Amino acid sequence: MAKIIDGKKIAEEIKEELKKEVLVLAKKKIVPSLLVILVGEDNASQIYVKNKERVAKEIGIDSQVMKLSTATSQEDLEEIILQYNADEKIHGILVQLPLPDSIDVKRIISLIDPKKDVDCFHPENVGRMMIDDARFLPCTPAGVLELLKRSNISVEGKNIVIVGRSNIVGKPLAVMLINLGATVTVCNSKTKNLKEICAQAEILVSATGKAGLICADMIKKDAIVIDVGINRNAEGKLVGDVDYIRACDKVSCITPVPGGVGPMTIMMLMRNTILAAKNQANQ
Ligand code: GUN
Repeated sequence: MAKIIDGKKIAEEIKEELKKEVLVLAKKKIVPSLLVILVGEDNASQIYVKNKERVAKEIGIDSQVMKLSTATSQEDLEEIILQYNADEKIHGILVQLPLPDSIDVKRIISLIDPKKDVDCFHPENVGRMMIDDARFLPCTPAGVLELLKRSNISVEGKNIVIVGRSNIVGKPLAVMLINLGATVTVCNSKTKNLKEICAQAEILVSATGKAGLICADMIKKDAIVIDVGINRNAEGKLVGDVDYIRACDKVSCITPVPGGVGPMTIMMLMRNTILAAKNQANQ
């Protein structure tokens, strides 16, 4: 029988740990604070931002959401970021993606003070991660590592295949796993012989956003499968990238969607915000 890795339960455990950290900081008169900037009306983004606000409140993190219209100019958004970079009361700044097409995303991310970059998207923070001197870890990949760690799954020396090469998940996760001594292969949905490569993996991670891409015959027997995909199927139901029902007969451990990696991402953001507050207090 496959063991289901319960991301919701593990995220709740981390939430309790973070609440305690916030109480310790409160004794030093430090309240971690997060500014989330949401530009435009993207439906999924609005839900994500609401969830971030809710969880922050539950933990005792002071969070503010700044909602800006789709018509916000590059200059105005840059001005806002500079203003909050200089604001000592704000420890973390997150610009929710995607941004409207009129905005230069790379420029915006590069403008966030790296010390406040709780997403770990700033080139300086990405570079530091590359040389194994991370200031922050990006939230979704960090959530994947934490799920493995808390399920007593070691990655050192393991053959790990990642399907997906995005800047948010696939690429940083590969770097983090390399830093931990794993042997990492990064594929994407167009990789030749994807099935054969995936079938070699002791740990298979999929982060493509393509429902059903990973079939049971692509999975090695007793592999560990981490499904980062969040997709809606034809019936409107949330599903991952993996054919979950069939995969369950083959794997040793698997994450469900929903209730796997998703709840961890938000908790890692909260962990980064607390870390940012601690670092800034120690400056
Ligand atoms: N949009 C989808 N995922 C993310 C994320 O991790 N951070 C931000 N800022 N925007 C996102």
